[in-house]
Amino acid sequence: MPFHSTIISSGSYLPEKILTNNDLTKIVDTSDEWIFQRSGIKQRHIAADNQSTSDMAVKAAQKALESAGISANEIDGIIVATTTPDQTFPSVAVKVQAELGVPVGIAFDIQAVCTGFVYALATADNFIKAGQLKRVLVIGAEKMSSVLDWSDRTTCVLFGDGAGAVILEANDSSDTNDRAGVLSTHLYADGNMRDLLYTSGGVSTTGDSGHIIMQGREVFKNAVNLMAAAVNAALDENNLTADDIDWLVPHQANLRIIESTAKKLSMPMERVVVTVQNHGNTSAASIPLAFDEAMQAGKIKKGELVLFEALGGGLTWGSALVRV
Ligand code: UT7
Repeated sequence: MPFHSTIISSGSYLPEKILTNNDLTKIVDTSDEWIFQRSGIKQRHIAADNQSTSDMAVKAAQKALESAGISANEIDGIIVATTTPDQTFPSVAVKVQAELGVPVGIAFDIQAVCTGFVYALATADNFIKAGQLKRVLVIGAEKMSSVLDWSDRTTCVLFGDGAGAVILEANDSSDTNDRAGVLSTHLYADGNMRDLLYTSGGVSTTGDSGHIIMQGREVFKNAVNLMAAAVNAALDENNLTADDIDWLVPHQANLRIIESTAKKLSMPMERVVVTVQNHGNTSAASIPLAFDEAMQAGKIKKGELVLFEALGGGLTWGSALVRV
């Protein structure tokens, strides 16, 4: 029997500690005006020293399970998108599995930086279509504060910590009329642009995680063009126009990037979910955080068409079209 995957619930978690733009002026030479005007960010959440990426992932996953009304026993796959794992190994996914009491199954991490959640969603969708998994926890979780150089004002003001999760479930595909679920995914990477955004260290080079280094203007330019291209690929494949899309849920890196991409697609900002002001750039966690917030607020309604788009280090980028 052919299967397709449906998002049956979502959940998210933000750490308690809030760092405002004004707080940052005590750490680096910056201002609330500069940060807000250039990025749209007002504040970000910062994990406690003893709080790891898996701790946040577990909290988001628990909320998604509660919201779906299912128990951990009914999950057979966990895919965590993260670029800030607790340890080099084992994966965050197996820690989430043990913590939640998910039975033996498939669990692994995906590293595609800020595009990680779209990569993870596409991977889970393909496992489901292949008939290999039935109910998958797809999580984006990051402790970006641990890879920031807190003396570099060009990067430390932009990022934050958090986690978001969705549960994907296999459904019979025989009825294809306006069915809910993942309709398409488009993933891309171009390693020739790896030096635009990277960390200064790594396990097999310096032996530590290093800090984020970014050529902001170059990343900005590529983000607008490449995310619009990924969105157009989704629209073309599904014979849709931007008018058909109810909600754009973009990666939350910079309000100006979000606005420029929406403009390129002629999408009014009223149909774009924006949460970057509250949590900054949370990398792989940003799309599921924004999606969950819009679901909880009752903005996104059952049956609506939602388009995810992201771009991150690599460069990696992609889109996913979902009817919720
Ligand atoms: O999630 C992965 C994808 N990442 C992104 O999408 C980020 C993409 N890039 C961006 O969002 C923007 O390029 C930034 C927000 C990072 C920077 O905005 P910008 O308008 O491109 O500014 P800029 O880098 O061109 O810097 C303008 C000025 C510079 O001063 P000079 O050289 O003009 O004198 C910077 O030194 O702003 C200065 N500056 C700051 N000033 C106050 C840089 N950071 C700060 C700061 N506070 N925090």
